[in-house]
Amino acid sequence: MHLGSGLVLAAAGAQGEGEPFGLAAAAGGSTILPMHQGLGANAAAYGAPLMRRLEQLAAFTEIPGQLTRRYLSPAHLAASRQVAAWMREAGMDVRTDALFSLFGRYEGQKPRAPAIMLGSHLDTVLDAGRYDGALGVLAGIAVVAELSRRGERLQHAIEVAAFGEEEGSRFPAHILTSSALIGAVGPKLMDSRDKDGISVREAVVAAGGNADDYLRCARTAGEIAAYLELHIEQGPVLEQSGLALGAVTAISGSHRLSVTVSGFAGHAGTVPMAQRRDALAAASEMILAIERLACSDKALVATVGQIAALPGAQNVIPGKVRFSIDMRSPADGVRDRAHRALLDTFEEIAARRGVEVEAATYQRNAATPLADGVIAAVLQAIAACGQAPLSLPSGAGHDAGIMARHCPAGMIFLRCKDGISHNPAESIAVEDAEAGVRALLEATRRLDHWLARPGSQ
Ligand code: GLV
Ligand code: MN
Ligand code: MN
Repeated sequence: MHLGSGLVLAAAGAQGEGEPFGLAAAAGGSTILPMHQGLGANAAAYGAPLMRRLEQLAAFTEIPGQLTRRYLSPAHLAASRQVAAWMREAGMDVRTDALFSLFGRYEGQKPRAPAIMLGSHLDTVLDAGRYDGALGVLAGIAVVAELSRRGERLQHAIEVAAFGEEEGSRFPAHILTSSALIGAVGPKLMDSRDKDGISVREAVVAAGGNADDYLRCARTAGEIAAYLELHIEQGPVLEQSGLALGAVTAISGSHRLSVTVSGFAGHAGTVPMAQRRDALAAASEMILAIERLACSDKALVATVGQIAALPGAQNVIPGKVRFSIDMRSPADGVRDRAHRALLDTFEEIAARRGVEVEAATYQRNAATPLADGVIAAVLQAIAACGQAPLSLPSGAGHDAGIMARHCPAGMIFLRCKDGISHNPAESIAVEDAEAGVRALLEATRRLDHWLARPGSQ
């Protein structure tokens, strides 16, 4: 059943019926967790403890009274230490890599088996909610804690990953540490600087790490058999469908740009209007052009979230303006065309206003389809938990989008209140947290069986 914009509601109870990879059969049906109570029946087993930990983790913040935990801030490092302690308590061996991704490993039946990685990120946006990123990391630990409590080992190891700088809130280096895992970080990103002029390299050294080792973050092919991320949806679809969980089919691509407009600073009282080269007035026109362009195509969104006008005085005509652009679309062609159109428009505005413009594109991520086998495992896990299996695309970027370039990757979305995210009002229900852990465990078991079958990928 199609619900529009790429949304598909599969037939409920479709487990085992014509699924592409024979996952249900491979998983042996009833060897899975007892799910007969349905998703929301009992929030006590995993949901309530998970919500308590999410609350505890939200106390690790740079700014008291709100949650702001930027990559490699003391709050981020302290949160990582707390999460490492929870990983050890759940029976995992813990290590960090050179860029401070944190990994907890729970061995499989045989030592050094390839791992199913369950992960997300611990850094946050400025004035964040408490579930974006943290949910997936702590739910992964809850899955391992449950296996460990039962004394059970899967055929694969499980690694829980806590990535950093997924948000790009500190450095112009969005989805940084999972990119390092797949070997996609180079010297340019390592030398990028935060607003205080500190480079990633310097921040790693200040945190006690060895920045020269960043290439060693790369994991070899085959070490990670699959990646699965539980994340809040950050949109309204699940809530509007009355469902707690969904399987993610693809992740929108994004372009991130840093734009500098250079005019000429001058006296706010003496320079006639016709003789000004006001960088902020020119930037304002550019920003409205971005909005117009994004509104012209349903498959496109664009945001200017940062702007600085220099010298920033009330009585000085702004001589220089820097602003960011975050532009996304599930269709790479739409985004590429919009990008080119914007650059032409900026040139036209700059020429007319006698200013200069430089637009640096520092990140381009193509739209990423997630792996059919992992999507099937997630849909079947959701169905086994008693919910109609819904699939939907993601407008937000995620570590899973990077990991999909390295191994079969998938995501489970979890309903959040009013679809609100990147906002302190982010909220989830304890029953949904319970459902999220159950579905993550269920999907992990199914992946374990599927991946162990010859020729499964
Ligand atoms: C990450 O949350 C992003 O999509 O910006
Ligand atoms: Mn996130
Ligand atoms: Mn986010």
